[in-house]
Amino acid sequence: MNYEQAVESIWRHAEGGVTNDAARLKELVRYATLAPSGHNTQCWRFRVADGAIGILPDLSRRTPVVDPDDHHLYVSLGCAAENLSLAARAFGMTGEVTFRPEGDGELLITLDSCRAEAAPLFEAIPARQCTRTDYDGSSLAGEELRLLEAAGTGRGVAVTLLTEREALEKVLEYVVQGNSLQVNNPAFRHELEDWIRFGDREAVEAGDGLSARVMGNPPTPRWLGRWLFRALFRERAENARVARQIRSSAGIAVFVSDADDRAHWVEAGRCYQRFALQATVLGIRNAFVNQPVEEAGVRPAFAKALGLSGGRPDLVVRFGRGKAMPRSLRRPIESVLIPPGPS
Ligand SMILES: Cc1cc2nc3c(=O)[nH]c(=O)nc-3n(C[C@H](O)[C@H](O)[C@H](O)COP(=O)(O)O)c2cc1C
Repeated sequence: MNYEQAVESIWRHAEGGVTNDAARLKELVRYATLAPSGHNTQCWRFRVADGAIGILPDLSRRTPVVDPDDHHLYVSLGCAAENLSLAARAFGMTGEVTFRPEGDGELLITLDSCRAEAAPLFEAIPARQCTRTDYDGSSLAGEELRLLEAAGTGRGVAVTLLTEREALEKVLEYVVQGNSLQVNNPAFRHELEDWIRFGDREAVEAGDGLSARVMGNPPTPRWLGRWLFRALFRERAENARVARQIRSSAGIAVFVSDADDRAHWVEAGRCYQRFALQATVLGIRNAFVNQPVEEAGVRPAFAKALGLSGGRPDLVVRFGRGKAMPRSLRRPIESVLIPPGPS
């Protein structure tokens, strides 16, 4: 299978043949896996139980350098849960999400029967992407901003949309600070390189990670891609790129949790996912610029500069209008399903 064929098989709605319960449950899991995850690690596993699906963390897919407290990992589970919940409702199931904190934590999504409701956010699931490119600099209408804010707000999680140029420049200062620390950190570079799939063949075989294409680069053999990455991933070039990207955006969304715990991180993921799907419905692109919240040394000053007191700034996301980028890949459903144990 080549890259384009893989993309076509992944980014689609359910096709005919979802006629029995087993096929329906598998489809729900497939929709969940279309969610974003940090470095596209797809750090989730799914347990199909009676009347519910559980989402568990896959801790073998942690990224301890960029995400030492597993914050992004639990945010990613929240994104997957939101997709699963929307898909459940479209298939006529309740799709209520609860977080069980015991052990490593589990998100349970209920599947009791109810009236089917295919919401616009559900329809947008296969079209959503993180778009890592310059946008066109145009601003958004007040109504578009209102819809994005409503979609991104949840229980104990607020989203602030910054659109004034001065505010964007302030955020950029902290993104550059965090970016410089990351680009100059050998452990960060090593972890990132580990998740880059330089060639099309390795990207399709792995079905995870960051393909050269989604980063806006041509695919290359692994040896050449690694050589280019090591030579070209440099502070000045990366800071210039991020400055261009932010200055071409219509605005920046900052998601903030009331409390700094896993339940709130999951909720932040659900809020981001609704925001991203709502943006997709409106034809608006988005991409993360999380450097100031990922670097623990920058985070407090960033929060202070934004006037936040208490809580945790979870995610920083730029948005605007622009062209689509190549799509990311996913692993087969079979590799994320926990086989049923002896009953
Ligand atoms: C919690 C979280 C943090 C992320 N942080 C970043 C980031 O800092 N920079 C970035 O370019 N992408 C970031 N991403 C985006 C992922 O790399 C992206 O979701 C993944 O590659 C899959 O691509 P897709 O969302 O287009 O399907 C993040 C995603 C999540 C869920």
